[in-house]
Amino acid sequence: MKPKVYVTRLIPAVALKKLGESCDYRIWEGELAIPRDAVLREVPEVDGLISLLTDKIDGPVMDAAPRLRVISNMAVGFDNVDVPEATKRKIMVCNTPGVLTETTADFAFALLLAAARRVVEGERVVRARKWKTWGPMILLGQDVHHATLGIIGLGRIGAEVAKRGKGFDMKVVYYDTIRRSDLEEQLGVEFRDLKSLLADSDFVTIHCPLLPQTHHLIGEEQFKLMKNTAILVNSARGPIVDSKALYNALRNRQIAYAALDVTEPEPIPLDDPLLTLDNIVIAPHIASASVATRTKMAMMAVDNLLAGLKGERPPHIVNPEVLAK
Ligand code: GLV
Repeated sequence: MKPKVYVTRLIPAVALKKLGESCDYRIWEGELAIPRDAVLREVPEVDGLISLLTDKIDGPVMDAAPRLRVISNMAVGFDNVDVPEATKRKIMVCNTPGVLTETTADFAFALLLAAARRVVEGERVVRARKWKTWGPMILLGQDVHHATLGIIGLGRIGAEVAKRGKGFDMKVVYYDTIRRSDLEEQLGVEFRDLKSLLADSDFVTIHCPLLPQTHHLIGEEQFKLMKNTAILVNSARGPIVDSKALYNALRNRQIAYAALDVTEPEPIPLDDPLLTLDNIVIAPHIASASVATRTKMAMMAVDNLLAGLKGERPPHIVNPEVLAK
Protein backbone atom coordinates (compact mmCIF):
# COMPACT_ATOMS: atom_id res chain seq x y z
CA MET A 1 0.00 0.00 0.00
CA LYS A 2 1.27 3.47 -0.89
CA PRO A 3 1.86 5.86 2.00
CA LYS A 4 -0.82 8.49 2.51
CA VAL A 5 0.16 12.12 2.34
CA TYR A 6 -1.72 15.37 2.83
CA VAL A 7 -0.62 18.57 1.08
CA THR A 8 -2.00 21.74 2.64
CA ARG A 9 -2.15 23.86 -0.56
CA LEU A 10 -1.65 23.60 -4.27
CA ILE A 11 2.10 23.46 -5.02
CA PRO A 12 3.89 23.32 -8.41
CA ALA A 13 2.62 20.47 -10.57
CA VAL A 14 5.99 18.76 -11.14
CA ALA A 15 6.32 18.23 -7.42
CA LEU A 16 2.81 16.80 -7.13
CA LYS A 17 3.54 14.50 -10.07
CA LYS A 18 6.59 13.12 -8.34
CA LEU A 19 4.69 12.75 -5.08
CA GLY A 20 1.89 10.90 -6.85
CA GLU A 21 4.28 8.30 -8.27
CA SER A 22 4.84 6.74 -4.87
CA CYS A 23 2.17 8.13 -2.55
CA ASP A 24 -1.57 8.53 -2.36
CA TYR A 25 -2.05 12.17 -1.65
CA ARG A 26 -4.90 14.50 -0.96
CA ILE A 27 -4.64 18.24 -1.23
CA TRP A 28 -6.34 21.36 0.12
CA GLU A 29 -7.36 23.16 -3.02
CA GLY A 30 -8.58 26.33 -1.36
CA GLU A 31 -6.92 29.60 -2.25
CA LEU A 32 -6.48 30.48 1.42
CA ALA A 33 -4.66 28.56 4.14
CA ILE A 34 -6.39 25.41 5.24
CA PRO A 35 -8.54 26.04 8.33
CA ARG A 36 -7.45 24.25 11.45
CA ASP A 37 -10.56 22.07 11.68
CA ALA A 38 -9.93 20.85 8.13
CA VAL A 39 -6.32 19.93 8.99
CA LEU A 40 -7.52 18.00 12.01
CA ARG A 41 -10.09 16.24 9.84
CA GLU A 42 -7.61 15.36 7.09
CA VAL A 43 -4.66 14.00 9.05
CA PRO A 44 -5.87 10.92 11.00
CA GLU A 45 -4.76 8.46 8.30
CA VAL A 46 -1.68 10.24 6.93
CA ASP A 47 1.94 9.08 7.06
CA GLY A 48 3.30 12.33 5.71
CA LEU A 49 2.37 15.98 5.57
CA ILE A 50 3.56 18.73 3.23
CA SER A 51 2.89 21.93 5.13
CA LEU A 52 3.41 25.63 4.57
CA LEU A 53 4.38 28.49 6.84
CA THR A 54 0.70 29.45 7.06
CA ASP A 55 -0.14 26.19 8.83
CA LYS A 56 0.29 25.79 12.55
CA ILE A 57 1.45 22.23 13.02
CA ASP A 58 1.44 21.71 16.76
CA GLY A 59 0.93 18.94 19.32
CA PRO A 60 -2.87 18.63 18.81
CA VAL A 61 -2.41 18.25 15.03
CA MET A 62 0.22 15.56 15.64
CA ASP A 63 -2.09 13.85 18.15
CA ALA A 64 -4.77 13.77 15.47
CA ALA A 65 -2.29 12.03 13.15
CA PRO A 66 -1.07 8.92 14.96
CA ARG A 67 0.61 7.49 11.83
CA LEU A 68 2.47 10.71 10.95
CA ARG A 69 6.20 10.15 10.36
CA VAL A 70 7.31 13.19 8.35
CA ILE A 71 6.29 16.85 8.35
CA SER A 72 7.88 18.41 5.30
CA ASN A 73 7.55 22.17 5.48
CA MET A 74 7.86 23.95 2.14
CA ALA A 75 9.85 26.88 3.57
CA VAL A 76 13.26 27.46 5.03
CA GLY A 77 11.68 28.82 8.22
CA PHE A 78 9.88 26.26 10.38
CA ASP A 79 8.61 28.37 13.29
CA ASN A 80 5.08 27.25 12.32
CA VAL A 81 5.94 23.69 13.35
CA ASP A 82 6.32 22.75 17.00
CA VAL A 83 9.57 20.86 16.52
CA PRO A 84 10.00 19.71 20.16
CA GLU A 85 6.48 18.21 20.04
CA ALA A 86 7.37 16.45 16.78
CA THR A 87 10.65 15.17 18.19
CA LYS A 88 8.84 13.81 21.25
CA ARG A 89 6.66 11.78 18.89
CA LYS A 90 9.64 10.75 16.68
CA ILE A 91 8.19 12.68 13.75
CA MET A 92 10.78 14.04 11.32
CA VAL A 93 10.52 17.76 10.46
CA CYS A 94 12.10 18.98 7.22
CA ASN A 95 12.60 22.36 5.56
CA THR A 96 13.84 23.76 2.24
CA PRO A 97 17.07 25.69 2.82
CA GLY A 98 19.50 26.84 0.14
CA VAL A 99 17.28 26.89 -2.92
CA LEU A 100 15.63 30.17 -1.96
CA THR A 101 18.69 31.98 -0.63
CA GLU A 102 19.53 34.18 -3.59
CA THR A 103 15.93 34.79 -4.59
CA THR A 104 15.14 35.97 -1.07
CA ALA A 105 18.27 38.13 -0.92
CA ASP A 106 17.30 39.72 -4.23
CA PHE A 107 13.92 40.63 -2.81
CA ALA A 108 15.34 42.01 0.44
CA PHE A 109 17.50 44.25 -1.72
CA ALA A 110 14.52 45.19 -3.86
CA LEU A 111 12.71 46.31 -0.70
CA LEU A 112 15.77 48.22 0.45
CA LEU A 113 16.02 50.05 -2.86
CA ALA A 114 12.28 50.66 -3.01
CA ALA A 115 12.32 52.28 0.42
CA ALA A 116 15.52 54.27 -0.10
CA ARG A 117 14.40 55.69 -3.42
CA ARG A 118 10.69 55.90 -2.58
CA VAL A 119 9.74 53.82 -5.60
CA VAL A 120 6.33 52.80 -4.31
CA GLU A 121 5.42 56.30 -3.14
CA GLY A 122 6.41 57.60 -6.57
CA GLU A 123 4.26 54.98 -8.25
CA ARG A 124 1.32 55.98 -6.06
CA VAL A 125 1.72 59.60 -7.20
CA VAL A 126 1.70 58.57 -10.86
CA ARG A 127 -1.30 56.23 -10.47
CA ALA A 128 -3.20 58.92 -8.62
CA ARG A 129 -2.69 61.08 -11.77
CA LYS A 130 -0.75 63.55 -9.61
CA TRP A 131 2.56 63.67 -11.50
CA LYS A 132 2.62 67.26 -12.61
CA THR A 133 6.29 68.06 -13.26
CA TRP A 134 9.90 67.04 -12.74
CA GLY A 135 10.80 68.78 -9.51
CA PRO A 136 14.12 69.50 -7.85
CA MET A 137 12.62 68.79 -4.43
CA ILE A 138 10.15 66.05 -5.27
CA LEU A 139 10.39 62.59 -3.67
CA LEU A 140 13.98 62.94 -2.55
CA GLY A 141 15.19 59.70 -1.07
CA GLN A 142 18.46 58.38 0.25
CA ASP A 143 21.48 57.02 -1.52
CA VAL A 144 22.15 53.33 -1.23
CA HIS A 145 25.66 53.38 -2.66
CA HIS A 146 28.38 54.05 -0.09
CA ALA A 147 25.87 53.86 2.77
CA THR A 148 26.30 51.49 5.73
CA LEU A 149 24.30 48.29 5.59
CA GLY A 150 23.71 46.50 8.90
CA ILE A 151 22.76 42.85 8.59
CA ILE A 152 21.17 41.08 11.54
CA GLY A 153 21.84 37.38 11.05
CA LEU A 154 24.67 36.44 8.72
CA GLY A 155 23.33 33.06 7.67
CA ARG A 156 22.87 31.97 4.09
CA ILE A 157 20.45 34.76 3.15
CA GLY A 158 22.25 37.44 5.17
CA ALA A 159 25.52 36.58 3.44
CA GLU A 160 23.90 36.92 0.01
CA VAL A 161 22.48 40.31 1.01
CA ALA A 162 26.00 41.30 2.09
CA LYS A 163 27.27 40.47 -1.40
CA ARG A 164 24.57 42.63 -2.94
CA GLY A 165 25.50 45.46 -0.59
CA LYS A 166 29.13 45.15 -1.61
CA GLY A 167 28.02 45.35 -5.24
CA PHE A 168 26.53 48.73 -4.40
CA ASP A 169 29.78 49.87 -2.74
CA MET A 170 28.16 49.79 0.68
CA LYS A 171 30.02 49.36 3.93
CA VAL A 172 28.60 46.13 5.34
CA VAL A 173 28.47 45.32 9.05
CA TYR A 174 26.68 42.43 10.71
CA TYR A 175 25.47 41.14 14.02
CA ASP A 176 24.95 37.48 14.74
CA THR A 177 25.08 35.31 17.83
CA ILE A 178 27.85 33.40 16.09
CA ARG A 179 30.86 35.38 14.90
CA ARG A 180 31.63 34.43 11.28
CA SER A 181 35.33 35.18 10.81
CA ASP A 182 35.32 33.12 7.60
CA LEU A 183 32.65 35.33 6.05
CA GLU A 184 34.20 38.50 7.45
CA GLU A 185 37.24 37.75 5.35
CA GLN A 186 35.45 36.31 2.34
CA LEU A 187 32.84 39.06 2.02
CA GLY A 188 34.69 41.98 3.58
CA VAL A 189 32.10 42.52 6.33
CA GLU A 190 32.68 43.68 9.90
CA PHE A 191 31.16 42.34 13.11
CA ARG A 192 29.28 44.71 15.43
CA ASP A 193 27.30 44.14 18.57
CA LEU A 194 23.62 44.80 18.02
CA LYS A 195 23.66 48.24 19.65
CA SER A 196 26.49 49.61 17.56
CA LEU A 197 25.09 48.04 14.41
CA LEU A 198 21.81 49.86 15.02
CA ALA A 199 23.59 53.12 15.79
CA ASP A 200 25.93 53.01 12.78
CA SER A 201 23.72 51.66 9.99
CA ASP A 202 21.86 53.61 7.34
CA PHE A 203 20.01 50.41 6.46
CA VAL A 204 19.21 47.61 8.89
CA THR A 205 18.08 44.37 7.33
CA ILE A 206 16.88 41.34 9.28
CA HIS A 207 17.83 37.79 8.30
CA CYS A 208 17.67 35.77 11.50
CA PRO A 209 15.13 33.06 12.31
CA LEU A 210 12.16 33.69 14.58
CA LEU A 211 13.02 32.11 17.92
CA PRO A 212 11.97 32.95 21.47
CA GLN A 213 15.26 34.94 21.68
CA THR A 214 14.54 36.96 18.52
CA HIS A 215 10.86 37.72 19.23
CA HIS A 216 10.59 41.55 19.24
CA LEU A 217 14.37 41.78 18.90
CA ILE A 218 13.71 45.20 17.37
CA GLY A 219 11.43 47.30 19.56
CA GLU A 220 11.19 50.72 21.17
CA GLU A 221 14.66 50.65 22.74
CA GLN A 222 16.30 49.56 19.50
CA PHE A 223 14.52 52.20 17.41
CA LYS A 224 15.88 54.83 19.82
CA LEU A 225 19.40 53.71 18.96
CA MET A 226 18.89 53.99 15.21
CA LYS A 227 19.57 57.04 13.05
CA ASN A 228 16.61 59.27 12.20
CA THR A 229 17.47 58.64 8.57
CA ALA A 230 17.66 54.86 8.99
CA ILE A 231 15.65 52.42 6.93
CA LEU A 232 14.57 49.07 8.38
CA VAL A 233 14.04 46.07 6.10
CA ASN A 234 12.42 42.88 7.37
CA SER A 235 12.09 39.90 5.08
CA ALA A 236 12.60 37.30 7.84
CA ARG A 237 9.59 36.93 10.14
CA GLY A 238 7.12 39.60 11.28
CA PRO A 239 7.30 39.04 15.05
CA ILE A 240 11.05 39.80 15.11
CA VAL A 241 9.96 43.44 14.99
CA ASP A 242 7.53 44.89 17.53
CA SER A 243 5.02 46.35 15.10
CA LYS A 244 3.52 48.85 17.57
CA ALA A 245 6.99 50.19 18.29
CA LEU A 246 7.67 50.29 14.55
CA TYR A 247 4.53 52.32 13.98
CA ASN A 248 5.57 54.84 16.65
CA ALA A 249 9.14 55.02 15.33
CA LEU A 250 7.94 55.69 11.79
CA ARG A 251 5.25 58.14 12.82
CA ASN A 252 7.58 60.11 15.09
CA ARG A 253 10.36 59.93 12.51
CA GLN A 254 12.59 58.14 14.97
CA ILE A 255 13.56 56.23 11.84
CA ALA A 256 12.88 57.31 8.29
CA TYR A 257 11.35 54.34 6.57
CA ALA A 258 10.59 50.64 6.72
CA ALA A 259 10.18 47.97 4.09
CA LEU A 260 8.55 44.73 5.14
CA ASP A 261 7.87 41.45 3.42
CA VAL A 262 6.57 39.97 6.67
CA THR A 263 4.18 41.31 9.28
CA GLU A 264 2.78 40.43 12.66
CA PRO A 265 0.30 38.80 12.09
CA GLU A 266 0.01 37.77 8.44
CA PRO A 267 -1.82 38.93 6.51
CA ILE A 268 -1.57 42.38 8.06
CA PRO A 269 -4.94 43.31 9.59
CA LEU A 270 -6.85 45.78 7.43
CA ASP A 271 -7.03 48.25 10.33
CA ASP A 272 -3.32 47.99 11.18
CA PRO A 273 -2.05 51.56 11.73
CA LEU A 274 1.09 50.78 9.69
CA LEU A 275 -1.16 50.91 6.62
CA THR A 276 -1.91 54.57 7.31
CA LEU A 277 1.74 55.61 6.93
CA ASP A 278 3.47 56.78 3.77
CA ASN A 279 6.99 55.93 4.91
CA ILE A 280 6.59 52.18 4.67
CA VAL A 281 6.49 49.62 1.89
CA ILE A 282 4.75 46.35 2.66
CA ALA A 283 4.87 43.27 0.44
CA PRO A 284 2.73 40.17 1.05
CA HIS A 285 5.51 37.72 2.06
CA ILE A 286 6.81 37.04 -1.45
CA ALA A 287 10.59 37.13 -1.06
CA SER A 288 11.03 33.56 -2.33
CA ALA A 289 8.25 33.86 -4.90
CA SER A 290 9.96 33.27 -8.23
CA VAL A 291 8.73 30.52 -10.54
CA ALA A 292 12.06 28.71 -10.45
CA THR A 293 12.55 28.96 -6.70
CA ARG A 294 9.04 27.92 -5.71
CA THR A 295 9.41 24.91 -8.02
CA LYS A 296 12.71 23.98 -6.38
CA MET A 297 11.23 24.42 -2.91
CA ALA A 298 8.29 22.16 -3.77
CA MET A 299 10.59 19.50 -5.24
CA MET A 300 12.80 19.69 -2.18
CA ALA A 301 9.80 19.35 0.12
CA VAL A 302 8.68 16.26 -1.81
CA ASP A 303 12.20 14.77 -1.81
CA ASN A 304 12.51 15.30 1.94
CA LEU A 305 9.13 13.69 2.48
CA LEU A 306 9.78 10.68 0.25
CA ALA A 307 13.16 10.00 1.84
CA GLY A 308 11.64 10.12 5.32
CA LEU A 309 8.74 7.86 4.36
CA LYS A 310 11.21 5.34 2.91
CA GLY A 311 13.02 5.28 6.23
CA GLU A 312 16.00 7.16 4.83
CA ARG A 313 17.50 10.32 6.23
CA PRO A 314 15.78 13.28 4.52
CA PRO A 315 18.35 15.63 2.93
CA HIS A 316 17.07 18.54 5.05
CA ILE A 317 15.86 17.35 8.41
CA VAL A 318 15.78 19.87 11.24
CA ASN A 319 15.44 17.36 14.10
CA PRO A 320 17.91 14.60 13.13
CA GLU A 321 17.87 13.36 16.72
CA VAL A 322 14.66 11.46 15.88
CA LEU A 323 16.77 9.23 13.63
CA ALA A 324 19.03 8.12 16.47
CA LYS A 325 18.44 4.45 17.20
C1 GLV B 1 9.72 31.89 3.72
O1 GLV B 1 9.48 32.79 4.46
C2 GLV B 1 10.45 30.72 4.10
O2 GLV B 1 10.73 30.55 5.30
O3 GLV B 1 10.75 29.90 3.23
